[in-house]
Amino acid sequence: MNLSNKVKNIAQSEIRAMSILCNEKNGLNMAQGLCDLEVPLPVIEGTKEALDTGKNIYTSAYGNYNLRDAIANKQNSFYDQGITADNILVSAGATGAFYTTAMTLLNEGDEVILFEPYYGYHVSTLESIGCKIKFIKTTPPHYGIDFDYLASQVSEDTKAILICNPSNPSGKVYTKEELNSISTIVNQNDLVLFSDEMYEHFIYDGLEFTSALSIESLKKSTVVISGFSKIYSITGWRLGYAISTKEVIDNASALNDLIYVCPPAPLQYGVLKGLQELPKSYYTDVAKEHQVKRDKFIKALNEAGLKAEYIKGAYYVLADISSIEGSDDKEKVVNLLELTGIATVPARAFYSDAKDLNLARFCFSKKSEELDEAIERLKGLKIN
Ligand SMILES: Cc1ncc(COP(=O)(O)O)c(C=O)c1O
Repeated sequence: MNLSNKVKNIAQSEIRAMSILCNEKNGLNMAQGLCDLEVPLPVIEGTKEALDTGKNIYTSAYGNYNLRDAIANKQNSFYDQGITADNILVSAGATGAFYTTAMTLLNEGDEVILFEPYYGYHVSTLESIGCKIKFIKTTPPHYGIDFDYLASQVSEDTKAILICNPSNPSGKVYTKEELNSISTIVNQNDLVLFSDEMYEHFIYDGLEFTSALSIESLKKSTVVISGFSKIYSITGWRLGYAISTKEVIDNASALNDLIYVCPPAPLQYGVLKGLQELPKSYYTDVAKEHQVKRDKFIKALNEAGLKAEYIKGAYYVLADISSIEGSDDKEKVVNLLELTGIATVPARAFYSDAKDLNLARFCFSKKSEELDEAIERLKGLKIN
């Protein structure tokens, strides 16, 4: 059978490939972005109750109304954005929420600007719907944006800008000033802003997170994407959401219906109970816990000769692997796995051009024992 052009363009992700290699070698997987926290008790209890009381049938294509209401309440309690359930679509993870809202707002041939290093699914999703992508490179340590250059890159075809805040994989956290500058460009050119805020609670060094929807001038043109995979450690449950205007949400719900029918019914009740019962401190404690992990892991990377910055958000770190043998980043991460038993992701997964990349991404959201084990293994790394 001849495969479609769409499917031919979807490469197996480097992250999955490294995870497979890691399993073969019985290694320690710091490649995949799984969050290794315990699933919060109310989330488990809520799901069990839903199963015990037969909550097994389709929910609305928008997601359960009470869950949408609870997501709006959480959003308002953290950021005071005046969101209501009408602004929320619950989908099959943040991935489903991005896919359905991107399909709602973009046509084939439309151009989307996004910043490198990027999260690969953003690119693959946009490409799968026929969008052209214009990459703008940002560099460590601050991954700053030249806004004059950004403005100059907007073309007739440009329909949207996409940011990941905090960024997977760079850890960049956008300041309010940066969001205001983006807003100016968005509004001058009648663009849409997609803001993936999946790691909104993973913020370090006392920084304050600013959601794009907290910028008044972005309210009418923004789609925020977030979800529960990371913060409740339920990547396999597939529950995430989009926040936008009622018009976008109504139309995206039709696509959500078409593609997924609805999010998994009993699991929605689990997350609902989590939202209702977990105190605000749950979310701030997650950040504190991860800051401790960040500090000790990045210190160990630097001591092992793999230079890395203390990132400000999310739970990934791009470390310099130029001292590891290998002709390119891919060979180097395979060698790093041989040398340390630690699996990472080669930077080519996050850049449009793989040339001269000497970086590997480590995910440090690991249980303490595993993180300590990784630190021990790094101590054994002999770099000449
Ligand atoms: C920035 C970002 N957005 C979205 C996702 C996917 O989230 P979900 O599991 O809710 O589809 C990830 C997962 O790694 C991510 O890093």
